[in-house]
Amino acid sequence: MLDIARSWVQQSQRIAVLTGAGVSAESGVPTFRDAQTGYWAQFRAEEMATEEGFRNHPERVWKWYQYRRDLLASVQPNAAHGALADFEQHHPGRLTLITQNVDGLHQRAGSSGVLCLHGDILENRWLDTPRACCHIADAVKGEPPYCDRCGNLVRPGVVWFGEALPHDTFAAAQLAVHQCALMLVIGTAGAVYPAAGLARQARSAGARVVVLNPAPSELDDAAHAVLRGAAGSLLPQLLAV
Ligand code: OAD
Repeated sequence: MLDIARSWVQQSQRIAVLTGAGVSAESGVPTFRDAQTGYWAQFRAEEMATEEGFRNHPERVWKWYQYRRDLLASVQPNAAHGALADFEQHHPGRLTLITQNVDGLHQRAGSSGVLCLHGDILENRWLDTPRACCHIADAVKGEPPYCDRCGNLVRPGVVWFGEALPHDTFAAAQLAVHQCALMLVIGTAGAVYPAAGLARQARSAGARVVVLNPAPSELDDAAHAVLRGAAGSLLPQLLAV
């Protein structure tokens, strides 16, 4: 199956790639479903990744994001990130990389133009619409930092459950999916929409779809081929064309 998928990579002038947390697993970043370890195990991901959860427990949620930011500072991109960046470099203009990850590891591996559907964990923005008094650089240190004039809180620049994806980024992802001949779906459980819907859109638009995941995913039925294994070992083989 790997050989067949590799021949599709060779034949396809345009390739769209959707990555999820699994692509960073071999860097030592826990996947979303596995992220709740140690102290954080007592909270559900949804409690920590919604506006309501942040408003109810701003300090707790902020600390969780700080914990994940600190973890990212100590990890490196892995062979899967590297294979995608190398392919882009050797085949300019053929690959559009769409990610649900907020960890910045694709960019650190050298990929450019990454379409980050769920934002960037290293960025901050205001929770409420900023007033004239709100300047991020002036936010008073705290957990979370805040505006000492109006009390507005700083929040991480990620997309939480129930929030819209960045409009232009999602539009660019949809365009890439409609124009591609091959879509690779790597390391995602395929459970969170609208991101997961991109794979089905690609198939409906006539593209071949390949899922790469060591475990069953909710997008396996949308795939022409399923490659079972870890992204760090399979992706370099798949993209070495
Ligand atoms: P999940 O944590 O739901 O799923 C991770 C997937 O990676 C699973 O299907 C694993 O089998 C797979 N996996 C594990 N190790 C792997 C490896 N070495 N190589 C390849 N795959 C591996 O993460 P996502 O599907 O990315 O959204 O989650 C999607 C979204 O749900 C996240 O972006 C986040 C979350 O809620 C928001 O925060 C909005």
